This record gives sequence, structure tokens and C-alpha cells, in this order.
Amino acid sequence: MQVIETLEELARALDKERASGRQVGLVPTMGALHAGHLALVERARAECDVVVVTVFVNPLQFGPGEDLATYPRDEAGDIEAARRAGVDHVFLPPVEEMYPGPVLTSVRVSGLADGLEGASRAGHFEGVATVVAKLFAAVGRCRAYFGEKDYQQLLVVRRLAADLSFPVEVVGCETVREGDGLALSSRNARLTPEERAAAPVLYRAMQAGRSAIGAGERRSRRVAAVMAEVVGAEPLARLDYAAAVDASDLTGPAVLAGDVRLLVAARIGSTRLIDNIGTTAP
Ligand code: PAJ
Repeated sequence: MQVIETLEELARALDKERASGRQVGLVPTMGALHAGHLALVERARAECDVVVVTVFVNPLQFGPGEDLATYPRDEAGDIEAARRAGVDHVFLPPVEEMYPGPVLTSVRVSGLADGLEGASRAGHFEGVATVVAKLFAAVGRCRAYFGEKDYQQLLVVRRLAADLSFPVEVVGCETVREGDGLALSSRNARLTPEERAAAPVLYRAMQAGRSAIGAGERRSRRVAAVMAEVVGAEPLARLDYAAAVDASDLTGPAVLAGDVRLLVAARIGSTRLIDNIGTTAP
């Protein structure tokens, strides 16, 4: 396995792979690799000939006052985990390689990126879209694997690839969860034992939302209120948002119909967690 630190070297290595007729699979991450990340790697390995994992804690997608400084980092552990998972190339650039100077050019996906996480975290998706565009530009033609765990991000990235004509097929992968429903996340490492015990409240809230729809509720505000109530009953949780929206474009019709996405964001102690599930309103 090769560890690469520059964009130039990354582009060269993957050009060489494609010149030998190999299909490239790309898995972008911010590291602290867990079984959710590794599920993307596994899918990429099954569908592609060569897999590149990128590990870069992207300062551009963190707002002032967010957790950039304390974001979990474990470069040596990530390299080892990637090696064990059968990854072919790990791209682990220093910040100056990705951002050698002030960023004057950035990518904004309007509409899709404005609500939910975009509303709570100003500039977040612009940071995500910009770094992903830089990765797509360096990697070139590939299949790129993203988790449904970050559902809005998946839609934003898919749209960015299409709108900017990147030769990239964006593949969405199911969320990997703990036995009690908590979605795997690098940030889970920061939960105290009490907070960890409280954290599955996000999943329970979404299940309550899904049950409400199953029982015939179609008013999106009522479904959101059901989810908010479940989170509100957990003393260690502070709700940021609960929403029931159209799964294809995240718009919020008053009356739900067809494929629906239920999304929740909440702080458990000082750690902000997000999650979502899909359902249908037949
Ligand atoms: P990160 O949070 O490290 O996640 C990397 C990828 O792993 C994302 O596509 C995310 O959706 C996926 N993922 C995380 N937890 C998962 C889980 N429990 N099940 C399935 N997939 C999961 O998302 C980012 O990094 C960054 O924003 C990035 C796209 C790398 C741009 O900086």
C-alpha cells in the first residue's frame, strides 16, 4: 500500500492505474476510520480494481467555534486500518498541500446545501464541496463512495459532480450502526459513557417518525414534532433540528408523499450528532 502526500503524486498514481485498464474507487474521509468508513472501502473493493482512501480533516468545512481543533485524529491507526482493509493508496496530504494560500475560489451548491446542516453550519457545505471538487479533479475518472449517514452531503456531492461534469459516478452506501441503532461516527469517540447511553435517542426519534408515517400521518410538521418530542425527553440531548422532507431534493412539502427522508441533528452533551433514515409515504 502506498501513502501519498501530494495532489500531483495522487494524480500520477491513478493515471497509471487507469492506463493499465483498472477502474478506480475513491473513498474520501476525514480519518479516525471506523467500520462505517470501512464499509465504503469494502464496497469500493468489490466494485473497482483499485481503491484510494483520502484522509484529510478539511479546515474549510468547519466554522469558527466548531470542533476542528478537537476533531479525532489517528494517522498511524488510519494507515494501519487501510492496509488491513486492502486499500491500495492512502492520500494523506498536509493542509498546505490542499490550501497553499488563501482560498479565493470555492464551490457552492445552491438550494440543496442551504437548509438543514447548511442552515445550522454556515459555510459547511461550501467547504465540503470545494475539497471534494479538488479531490475529484486530482483523482480523475472514478467511482466515488459516500455514506448515507451524511445524506445531505451525498446529494450535494452528487449534484456537484453532475453540474461540474466530473467523470465521477457517486455511489451512496447504507449507514452502518451499532446494535442499539447509534450510527457509527468519528465523533462518537468523544461521548462520555452516560452520553453514549443517551445517544441512540436520535435513532429512536427517527423510528418514531417512521412509525407515525406508517400509521398514516402525512403532515411533515407533525412527523417532525413526533421526532422532536422523543429527543426532548432525553435530558442529555439538545435538539438542533428534526425534519421530514422529500428524499430526492430535501424540500419540505406540507404533505408527505413518496420517498421521504427523516433527519435529526442534536447535541449530546457537547458533541453534535446527525442521523437520518429513509421511508415511504405511500
Ligand atoms: P467523514 O465524516 O470522515 O466521512 C467519510 C465518509 O464516510 C462519508 O461519505 C460519510 O458519509 C461516511 N460515513 C461516516 N459514517 C458512516 C456510517 N456510520 N455508515 C456509513 N458511512 C459512513 O464526510 C466527511 O468525512 C467529509 O465531509 C468529506 C466528504 C471527507 C469531505 O471532507
